[in-house]
Amino acid sequence: MKRIVVLVSGRGSNFAALIDANLPAEFVAVISNRPGAPALDLASSRNVPTIALDHTLYSDRESFDLALAKEIDRHRPDVVVLAGFMRVLTENFVNRYRGRLVNIHPSLLPAFPGLDTHERALTAGVRIHGCTVHFVTPELDHGPIIIQAAVTVHDGDDATTLAARVLTQEHRIYPLAVRWLLEGRLKLTQDGRVFLSGALPQSAALISPESAQ
Ligand code: GRF
Repeated sequence: MKRIVVLVSGRGSNFAALIDANLPAEFVAVISNRPGAPALDLASSRNVPTIALDHTLYSDRESFDLALAKEIDRHRPDVVVLAGFMRVLTENFVNRYRGRLVNIHPSLLPAFPGLDTHERALTAGVRIHGCTVHFVTPELDHGPIIIQAAVTVHDGDDATTLAARVLTQEHRIYPLAVRWLLEGRLKLTQDGRVFLSGALPQSAALISPESAQ
């Protein structure tokens, strides 16, 4: 059985989607940098061991990331999943888990890396928005893209309605990507490209707004 460690900071809805997906793996730990994160309660209620590692108790990023890596390695994971983990990670940390560290980001990368993606998408006036699962590399929200889902932006959307539409898609694509990784179908190549084996159904283009005719 493959082993997954999940890193969280907040609500944990992506973690819930992963655990509900019947992945061929054991969730061996959920680790939060915020001791009060609701995701920790969620993990406990699903009998997944939890660890709180309060980043404010560490003097710098390097020392926090070292402690985090030590905690992760204790659980011998095959895959490390960032699920709403709101910390920038150091280069050493990211390189240690190369090819088995993935993140979900609430925008169609490379558009809108960083925070407040839904507000920024609305301000920019994009008609199509979405979410991205990617391998994590040292540059924030810039790793090789594994899968994306697009949603249309509706007239009258605010950040809350748009975020909810995107979140529904996050919960679809993250379990898919993690499953591919667990099954060995998905790899990060030496030259930093995504390799995905096996045929996938192709869908049609997404157009927004659609013409009436
Ligand atoms: C999600 O929108 C995710 O894309 C972003 O942070 C949010 C976490 O939500 N990185 P949750 O904690 O998984 O509910």
